Amino acid sequence: GMHLDVGRHMFPVSFIKKYIDYLAMHKLNAFHWHLTEDQGWRIEIKKYPRLTEIGAWRKGTQIGKTAEIDSVRYGGFYTQDEAREIVDYAAKRFITVVPEIEMPGHSLAALASYPFLACASDSFEVGTKWGVYENIYCAGNDSVFTFLEDVLTEVMDLFPSKYIHIGGDEAPKTKWKECPKCQARIKNENLKDESELQSYFIARIEKFLNEHGRQIIGWDEILEGGLAPNADVMSWRGITGGIEAAKLKHNVVMTPGSHCYFDHYQSAPEGEPLAIGGFLPLEKVYSYEPIPEELNKDERKYIIGVQGNVWTEYIATPEQVEYMALPRMCALAEVAWSPVEKRDTKNFLERMNKHYERLDAMNVNYRCPSLTGFEYENVFIDDAVLEIIPGQKNRVVRYTSDGSEPNSQSKIYTEPIKITETTTFKFCEFKSNGKRGKIYTASYEKQMPLEPVADEVESKGLNFELFKLKEIISSLTEMKNLKPLKTGVIEDFVFPYSDENLPQRFGVKYSGYIEIPEEDVYTFSVVSDDGTQLFIDKRLVVDNDGQHGPVEKSGQLALKKGLHEIELLYFQVGGPKTLQVFMKQDGEEKEEISGKILWH
Ligand code: ACM
Repeated sequence: GMHLDVGRHMFPVSFIKKYIDYLAMHKLNAFHWHLTEDQGWRIEIKKYPRLTEIGAWRKGTQIGKTAEIDSVRYGGFYTQDEAREIVDYAAKRFITVVPEIEMPGHSLAALASYPFLACASDSFEVGTKWGVYENIYCAGNDSVFTFLEDVLTEVMDLFPSKYIHIGGDEAPKTKWKECPKCQARIKNENLKDESELQSYFIARIEKFLNEHGRQIIGWDEILEGGLAPNADVMSWRGITGGIEAAKLKHNVVMTPGSHCYFDHYQSAPEGEPLAIGGFLPLEKVYSYEPIPEELNKDERKYIIGVQGNVWTEYIATPEQVEYMALPRMCALAEVAWSPVEKRDTKNFLERMNKHYERLDAMNVNYRCPSLTGFEYENVFIDDAVLEIIPGQKNRVVRYTSDGSEPNSQSKIYTEPIKITETTTFKFCEFKSNGKRGKIYTASYEKQMPLEPVADEVESKGLNFELFKLKEIISSLTEMKNLKPLKTGVIEDFVFPYSDENLPQRFGVKYSGYIEIPEEDVYTFSVVSDDGTQLFIDKRLVVDNDGQHGPVEKSGQLALKKGLHEIELLYFQVGGPKTLQVFMKQDGEEKEEISGKILWH
């Protein structure tokens, strides 16, 4: 199967049909239509018109990954006629549309439409930011179940699918803990806690749907507090939920974040459109085996399928859905249908050559396989060579060296290019329908090696200054005018104190000299959580600033033998702290910079 989130962003009926065509083409026979979200309710329900009058519209949308909201009213919904048209279109292609009506969480749009559905009848607004909201359906109020049963009655009428997806994921229990009705329900039903209350919620809905001949499926959180008697499970937080459900003899669809989240990046983020995070290249999807080894022969039959998910927080257009879904959907299809012993990545990629031409003929905006073999930023002393390795055979790569974007008239790359002057190249693959793939930029800067700045320094190690950060900062610029809490000398780029003696949020400035063994071009790289900047001889060589998880960034510099100034700025405001600094000489392996070559 393939999932599509139409709550965060909405896509026209014409595109939903195209998406179904792509599923059909790849023999994927279930379309999981995620119809309700915090940020939008997308299916017409006749009995509750406010769901689409109010719930289908938000007053703005989070801008990228910032805390800002634009002020553009956004929304829309599918009428019941449109839903029927889509179900019919899919059925003709042997595809079942599995509707998802989320509960008890991800329901803010419904609460905004009908505030009585919440624990405390506040006034709510349809979500404008991504993430998980604390306001969810009240589990103690019987009228919530009446509402959901009414909604599901209309949903069953629209969707003949045996399966109805009831969500179940990411439902914070904060409000239930404070809600007298929820607490009364826990007491009256002899439930242990709020997890069991969620189980009660799901089991009650299951009973209703079972009575109408339908089967529920939910995200793996429905295991918490006890699985409803007949529920099937979608394992998304890894595979353990799927294993547990199969051992309990419940059917499972495998869709772990590690291999099936097609909202994740397909290569390093440079040059890619903004995505939610992660890293899921085509080959990794292909490598997935949905039947866990932990299951015995008997339990394996409960794994009934595998699914790719397209969550659309950062996917606003049909073209972008295509870019994220394909070609990963092609790999998923083979994972789903071919025996594990027949799967062969090389052979798959070989066959994709032909398949890309089919996708080109259909004008699908799929992502071209990565061009590799080069670095984005390069420094050289005398000369350098740009080599581009296409991701597939027989693909045309065109390039420019004047800063313009390559077009159908640009030079075709045929062999490695020798470079003797500072040059910026732009290049991309051209599809067989003439459309451009992603544009890559590689810069080559000719540099005179920098002279050493000191003849001799006495002492090993680096100076450090430790800063205490009162507030969460998002950039090193905010650390500039602070007075250090402590100063001292340290062997290399380690943290100056043990965890218990470090402030919760802190920054460090390391400074001193690095001993360069011979004249050459050096690549410096830093892995850090959160931000870092590395300066050599006062030049910014690695800019890894910003609040982020462990990310590696690199940069190059031509240096003469001898001592050069080195300065590293680091800050940590959340998550596990990480800092590693590497150096690599041209043609050598990279090595972590240690106290052996550091002086002050
Ligand atoms: C999910 O990704 N929250 C199921």
